[in-house]
Amino acid sequence: MAKAIKIAVFAGSARRESFNKKLAKAAATIAEEQELDVTLIDLADFEAPVYSGDIEADSGLPESMQKLKTILASQDGFLISTPEYNGHVPPLLVNCFSWVSRTEGDEQGMIAFEGKMAGLMAASPGGLGGIRVLPRLRSTLADLGVMVVPGFVTVPKAMQAFDDNGAVSEDVAASISALAERLKDAIG
Ligand SMILES: Cc1cc2nc3c(=O)[nH]c(=O)nc-3n(C[C@H](O)[C@H](O)[C@H](O)COP(=O)(O)O)c2cc1C
Repeated sequence: MAKAIKIAVFAGSARRESFNKKLAKAAATIAEEQELDVTLIDLADFEAPVYSGDIEADSGLPESMQKLKTILASQDGFLISTPEYNGHVPPLLVNCFSWVSRTEGDEQGMIAFEGKMAGLMAASPGGLGGIRVLPRLRSTLADLGVMVVPGFVTVPKAMQAFDDNGAVSEDVAASISALAERLKDAIG
């Protein structure tokens, strides 16, 4: 039997009622239906200070970031749902990526990222669905050694996009399904 493909699904928002967390959760369910081995991560569970070289020099990675790094390092790929903040990658993601990118001991390179594949999604209450952040996140990930698969999912008008159980419309579900399939194929 082929080894299950492992992906981490997470949002670039820690907000309690985050639309991107809802999108990540919907995507996790869809990816599981496609027989991906899914770890759904809530970055609210991985609180960390803003990256500081002094903290790192004095005490290394915070425990939460060490834990996140270990989880991400064990995956084949990522499905990421992110808000855009003034068109950019939100500081939560940038901060997690900064901490997790740090090499320790005899590690050869950025073990949580290098050679991994990712699929990108964005949700926003606005009409553009956060589309401007996607090329920026793609570029950030490329610099970490993560290759982003073609295509993306955007969810505009996110206030109306989820039902009471967090389910998305058939169209959005089909887009997520296509993205998860591309990610699966790319990882092989
Ligand atoms: C600092 C800041 C900047 C924002 N910039 C944008 C933006 O550029 N485009 C956009 O569509 N929404 C923007 N928003 C609105 C967010 O899309 C909205 O707060 C969204 O709910 C955040 O994602 P979440 O629901 O997953 O937490 C911004 C919000 C904040 C707090």
